[in-house]
Amino acid sequence: MAQKTNWFENAVVYQIYPLSYMDGNNDGIGDIPGIISKLDYIKDLGATAIWFSPLYASPWKDYGYDISDYRAIHPAFGTMEDFDRLMAECKKRGLRVIMDMVLNHTSDQHAWFREAIADPNSKYRDYYIIRPGRKKNGKLLPPTNWVSCFTGSAWARIDGTDDFYLHLFAPEQPDLNWENPAVRDEIVDIMRFWLDKGVAGFRFDVFNLWSKVYPLRDDRGLLRLQKGSSFFVDGPRMHEFLRELNTRVLSEYDTYTVGESYLPDPEHAHRYIRRESGELDSIFDFAHLTSDNLFGLKFIPKPFDLLRFKLGLLGPQIKYFATGWNTLVLENHDCVRSVSRFGIKTEQYRYEAATFLALITFMGWGTPFIYQGEEIGMTNADFTSMDQLKDPVSHFVFDTMTKTFRFPRGLAFRLIRCGARDHARTPMQWDDGVNAGFNAGETPWQCLNSAYPEINVRRDLNAERSVYRFYQQLLAFRRENPVALRGETRLHLPKSRRMIVYSRELEGRRLLIVGNFSARSRKFRLPSGFHATRLAVRLTNYDRQLLRREMTLRPYEAIVFEEI
Ligand code: GLC
Ligand code: CA
Repeated sequence: MAQKTNWFENAVVYQIYPLSYMDGNNDGIGDIPGIISKLDYIKDLGATAIWFSPLYASPWKDYGYDISDYRAIHPAFGTMEDFDRLMAECKKRGLRVIMDMVLNHTSDQHAWFREAIADPNSKYRDYYIIRPGRKKNGKLLPPTNWVSCFTGSAWARIDGTDDFYLHLFAPEQPDLNWENPAVRDEIVDIMRFWLDKGVAGFRFDVFNLWSKVYPLRDDRGLLRLQKGSSFFVDGPRMHEFLRELNTRVLSEYDTYTVGESYLPDPEHAHRYIRRESGELDSIFDFAHLTSDNLFGLKFIPKPFDLLRFKLGLLGPQIKYFATGWNTLVLENHDCVRSVSRFGIKTEQYRYEAATFLALITFMGWGTPFIYQGEEIGMTNADFTSMDQLKDPVSHFVFDTMTKTFRFPRGLAFRLIRCGARDHARTPMQWDDGVNAGFNAGETPWQCLNSAYPEINVRRDLNAERSVYRFYQQLLAFRRENPVALRGETRLHLPKSRRMIVYSRELEGRRLLIVGNFSARSRKFRLPSGFHATRLAVRLTNYDRQLLRREMTLRPYEAIVFEEI
């Protein structure tokens, strides 16, 4: 057993989507040598760890979330020697490495799946979830009516047979059968392989889908948006599987684990991260990121609801405080850019909104996760046609909208553009030169965001009002302030639809975080128990010295006060 230091409680994690970060050899695709050349930039921001979206061998049907070899680096990213060098260069800078572990499914090109399909008697058959189809009125139907998280049936027919395999995501992502102990043995070995290389932790992709309810059967829930979800979300053996990974491998290393949850039930969510459960250190809970779309369906926008945002952002901080640990997230590779949502008028308030969002999010309790480009206020791209979108999900959903629901193509495109994951995946904007400095001129795999001449790292660093420098200040403040790191969160003005106000409290010391989440100036009165004469401004995205009991906050103004 390794001593657990809980280093992640003081960590700041920077997420890299390797395809789009930095293209070192000018072939249009980001790579490990490119990443290495930017480590100082990441370190200077104040990050202490990097989470890499999948670097493994993969046919890239879902850009790496379909792994064909868990122990190999994708040749477009580099070699295993490049990876080892990346580890060494990170170590030199005190940056820990967190790997993405996609264990709900593999690629259909993984050797296990190819064997399973080629030979029905192979032991690999039982690595996956394969069942005969059902015959009805002379037609062959899938074994159950479950719907994939990427739309359409969750079953694909195996060519030339009446058998189907389960895929909760794309057809090229067959689900692993976690019931099979041999699968879990493989997974333990894979994790050990990376931990022995010095990796400090894992982000578990859609982990709460690993366990399914057996025997598999139809979902008869009439109102359920996604048929089958009650049989594959938070399944009966989830807690047991997580504990097994801890007992068998994680506990031997000083690791950090964060699970990406898919629509988790709140009771289960809490159990996953309870310290005493021995399951995960934390989860991503994206509730606040559903505050401007309908039922969490990102392609169906709805007016921004600040009450929902506050509940989503601050709820877990309050709920998990005594028993677990939390994460703080504004963006990732599956989301639109934060300055381009929540009803923000980006053209007018990009700097204010970017710094506002950072302040109100990362002054909370939990480990901050910063997604590449967020630290310079990158915006959504102005895509003009479907063929600029590389994410298969954009196309699945477009097809469902136009074919199944007969939406006009223009409308479908506009909806897709509201929620497309592609916005997060355009190349990182380093400067205003050729291809935004992403590479030396080869056409990037995903088109650039045309805003790059105005929004790029070089320009931001030289600007009077720099988002990056604001992040630096914010992260430095957190690092040095025990209340910011460990204080308990308390929500104030819970009913306000314009202001977000909360305090952090530790051993009699208090911080007060105040933000005007709107484009209009707002009057704000200090919550009871706080006195203007005893508060000092520690951080703000406007100039402010003057303090009164009642103040007017400008558009997207955010302030950290400290009680003195
Ligand atoms: C997670 C990943 C996403 C991927 C999906 C299937 O949600 O973040 O990018 O498509 O899982 O692996
Ligand atoms: Ca490259």
